[in-house]
Amino acid sequence: MSECIRVAVLISGSGSNLQALIDGEKAGELPIEIACVISNRPDVRGLERAREAGIEAVTLDHKGFTSREDFDRALAETIDSYQPDLVVLAGFMRILTPEFTGRYLGRMLNIHPSLLPKYQGLHTHQRALDAGDSEHGVTVHFVTAELDGGPSAIQAVVPVLASDDATTLAARVQQQEHIIYPMAVRWFAEGRLSMADNLALLDGEPLPPQGYQVRSSFV
Ligand code: GAR
Repeated sequence: MSECIRVAVLISGSGSNLQALIDGEKAGELPIEIACVISNRPDVRGLERAREAGIEAVTLDHKGFTSREDFDRALAETIDSYQPDLVVLAGFMRILTPEFTGRYLGRMLNIHPSLLPKYQGLHTHQRALDAGDSEHGVTVHFVTAELDGGPSAIQAVVPVLASDDATTLAARVQQQEHIIYPMAVRWFAEGRLSMADNLALLDGEPLPPQGYQVRSSFV
């Protein structure tokens, strides 16, 4: 396995995607060292998950800052003090300034619960149901200044069932999140996944606009 890269994980809540990365690291399946977990909200489950795994858990409460710029500057300082090679946004529910996204361009990933470019923003599962979509899913993408808009690395597609509500659909999507986020992080850590000219590359070749596609079997 290649040498470990250092990863900073940013969260705002439960941290189930963080847990998938912790589990992958512990199982020796991911050549990463999670150097820190940073939350903009105090007392969230994700911080506990980090501490339980022996990872430094930092709270940087956005409410203590008067502007988005000030918060993002403090966040960047905190991140940089851990010298990560990769920044992973795992349910980090903040709009980021262009200065911040520019600083980590090509080395910051996000996971968004929709088949981007569909349904940027919030309430993605309900919006897919309301639109009558037969398929829904989740995207791992590089972060650029455009909200939920950077080049896609991997997309997982799941069926929407007639019996679904937002909760059951979200659960089906989350199962896939916990597969494709570690996959994307592993590819990045192995030097296989990169970004150039606003394109995601796998093994040096541009990926299609939706990224590498994973389709879960229809149930
Ligand atoms: C995940 O479902 C992720 O896709 C979503 O937040 C959840 C965090 O769950 N992210 C976004 O909506 C970003 N726009 P987790 O804290 O259990 O990993």
